[in-house]
Amino acid sequence: MQRILVVGAGAMGSQIAMVCALAGYDTTVTDVADEALDRATSQLHARLDRDVAKGRRTREDVDAAFARLTFSTDVDAAAAAADLVIEAALEKLEVKREVFARLDKISPAHTILTTNSSAIMSSQLANATGRADRVANMHFFNPALVMRCVEVLGTDEATVEAVADLARRLGKEPVVLRREIPGFVANRILGAVRDEAIFLLENGIATVEDIDTACRTALGYPMGPFELMDLTGIEIGYHAKLARHAVTGDPRDLPSRTVTELVERGDLGRKTGKGFYTYDESGDRT
Ligand code: 3HC
Repeated sequence: MQRILVVGAGAMGSQIAMVCALAGYDTTVTDVADEALDRATSQLHARLDRDVAKGRRTREDVDAAFARLTFSTDVDAAAAAADLVIEAALEKLEVKREVFARLDKISPAHTILTTNSSAIMSSQLANATGRADRVANMHFFNPALVMRCVEVLGTDEATVEAVADLARRLGKEPVVLRREIPGFVANRILGAVRDEAIFLLENGIATVEDIDTACRTALGYPMGPFELMDLTGIEIGYHAKLARHAVTGDPRDLPSRTVTELVERGDLGRKTGKGFYTYDESGDRT
């Protein structure tokens, strides 16, 4: 395995691509619009420059990684050369099925097609392709440059092992699911914490700030659930819940009133400058 394609240059896709390039893989990250690629390029440069300045990485390693990383709008050309694809596009089943059907047509027969989703399971995508045994979930966490866990789900043992092996080569810690369940392990646990935090907020028990403070100072979490939703993007959890509800039909899986209102207002967290908290232009909380 040498060439990796990452589809989608959002916060997750761009950092996943950088992780692959840093580990020595020839990596292409694609998106539909040049603006998304320009944004990804400048954010990655800023992030990696900071790592160099802080002595976490060497300038040589970072320059070599950027030399291995291609930003492109031509998904077909990249798919034709890829040994493994990581799809990190919108969390919408129909969008992902279209992407997988297209990748399946263009990629070589040996190519493994993975999705970064944990809400949409690879079994929901596999039958959009003619290679169900080489379709899997490879689920990274945000920020992907930092978080070490990668959850892996697939039906074929050899494919699962190949994906888990790649995760190790990327410096990550694979967690293999033995059976499928929407949300997988970490997000289900996180979701339970998040639901409780929203329950406490909606019932007027404590403020957003105080609930986050309790999680940090009583439980040792690096950040509270509301800070984390603002970091990952509030609409991500919203769409994940809708996708889970579509599978389970369980009304408890529907997004909360508070989250729905924020998404409808377009207050999606750090990226829009407002979510549970507000942020100034340099991204600091106001
Ligand atoms: N991208 C890349 N690196 C980042 C980053 C980002 N957005 N934010 C922080 N970092 C790295 C940087 O190296 C940073 O150092 P720097 O600011 O000097 O450059 C370093 O982390 C420390 O950052 P901070 O001092 O600002 O803050 P923390 O010490 O709190 O660390 C954190 C930041 C690593 C994000 C930490 O708060 C944390 O682990 N938070 C929890 C993250 C988490 O739970 N992720 C899982 C989310 S669920 C998910 O991903 C599900 C998926 O389906 C979307």
